[in-house]
Amino acid sequence: MVRCNCGTWILIFLVISPTIFHKSMSELDPRWVAKKRRMSHKVRKMFYHAYDNYMTYAFPHDELKPLAKTFTDSLVELGNLKLEHLPQEYHGSALTLVESLSSLVIMGNNTEFERAVLWLSENLTFDVDARINLFECNIRVLGGLVSAHILATDSTNRLVQRNYKNQLLILAEDLGRRFLPAFDTPTGLPYAWINLKYGVMENETTETSTSGCGSLILEMGALSRLAGDPSFESAALRALRKLWSMRSSLNLLGTTLDVETGEWIEYSSGIGAGVDSFYEYLMKAHILFGRDEFWRMFQPAYLAVQKYFRHGAWYHEADMRTGKATYWQLTSLQAFWPGLQVLVGDITAANSSHREFFSVWERFGVLPERYLLDFQMLHPTEKYYPLRPELAESTFYLYHATKDPWFLEVGETIVDSLNLYTKVESGFASIRDVTTMQWEDHQHSFFLAET
Ligand SMILES: *[C@@H]1O[C@H](CO)[C@@H](O)[C@H](O)[C@H]1NC(C)=O
Ligand SMILES: *[C@@H]1O[C@H](CO)[C@@H](O)[C@H](O)[C@H]1NC(C)=O
Ligand SMILES: *[C@@H]1O[C@H](CO)[C@@H](O)[C@H](O)[C@H]1NC(C)=O
Ligand SMILES: *[C@@H]1O[C@H](CO)[C@@H](O)[C@H](O)[C@H]1NC(C)=O
Repeated sequence: MVRCNCGTWILIFLVISPTIFHKSMSELDPRWVAKKRRMSHKVRKMFYHAYDNYMTYAFPHDELKPLAKTFTDSLVELGNLKLEHLPQEYHGSALTLVESLSSLVIMGNNTEFERAVLWLSENLTFDVDARINLFECNIRVLGGLVSAHILATDSTNRLVQRNYKNQLLILAEDLGRRFLPAFDTPTGLPYAWINLKYGVMENETTETSTSGCGSLILEMGALSRLAGDPSFESAALRALRKLWSMRSSLNLLGTTLDVETGEWIEYSSGIGAGVDSFYEYLMKAHILFGRDEFWRMFQPAYLAVQKYFRHGAWYHEADMRTGKATYWQLTSLQAFWPGLQVLVGDITAANSSHREFFSVWERFGVLPERYLLDFQMLHPTEKYYPLRPELAESTFYLYHATKDPWFLEVGETIVDSLNLYTKVESGFASIRDVTTMQWEDHQHSFFLAET
């Protein structure tokens, strides 16, 4: 990210460089430069408000409860709706700190980054009797450690490296090794739950989701390459290939499946919860690893989504066997899709679907978790907004791809509503009900990493 404080240089640049001037006029227009600086300042303030309050009231526990000014050890609760098998002795893994590492580097705060790295290397342990959700622990903890390691060792980043001796990579490798027993199934599809200390628990559920099997390759693939140990990447790749082999003749997948039998449990699926990151990871794995195999899976999968799930600018769910529409619902997680379409290069489709999501954001002030398209009403129980990043991320991608200043306006609207509705004295609270803007006492770790 480049910040520029020199208006004169911009003027000279404009005079001598007419073609560039036309191409990126909006970006260099002093009004937009000022707007970007203003937004950057606002977002920095928000990050530190979230981060400092986490460090004060919750660290080294997992997440901040900003209203009660206390913590929750939520790594063992993620995805665990019935709160089963909660450990007796678990005191958190500094989850929010782990998720904040890359943001600290982006904010240019190398001192704090280094302090965090040292704390984690001395104090973080995964040798705990805790049953965790493989998917959540992978995207948040393994992903956080691997990306921070890459940033810490990137020679183009002038990070203070005196004290960095690959500690985050060593931690990541330890965690990755604890994931491996989950993949020890007849199909190679991983269990959704694993105990970090003891492996797969007795009578563990064999049900998992498409995302749970198909969103491991980025973190585990990167880990293998960094650590020089192919076992993580092989396990993730084997699971992904198996999952892809289970597609229907329409190139559609279901939402839930059984890891022992390799049979589908839920045949209806869409681009939202339980499936979303399967598509995201195929495309991003193609970009990150440059392997054709990922594109050869992604392309037919993407075309099938556009053919069977799309209705105008909206996406509904359909049965993987017949392609017949099942549920007509808009969900907050689907809002990542326009960002993915930007990566594909499908800007027109990205733009139109992004506009629909943003119109719902504008109508409610934030994005409700679920909206019933066929009844034009909110889902009766899923009216919440847990500080999710997806719409902001798509807006970011669209802005960078098009340089259309409108996306900067959207970005500012999102930032302003977050400040208006979710900022509290000691952090940011989730919204329990978008119709009343009643708070929920939870600042999710991904708010600092993604939103
Ligand atoms: C880095 O973060 C710490 C903790 O929030 C803060 O005290 C410090 O001022 C920050 N440094 C910079 C350069 O922003
Ligand atoms: C590890 O945690 C202990 C206890 O909170 C603390 O005293 C120590 O300074 C930590 N290590 C680092 C490197 O920060
Ligand atoms: C696992 O299931 C079997 C058969 O239902 C039962 O006998 C056993 O007690 C269960 N084990 C645990 C740890 O729940
Ligand atoms: C996005 O769609 C709007 C409305 O249809 C249109 O005015 C705008 O030019 C489009 N932007 C891009 C980048 O395609």
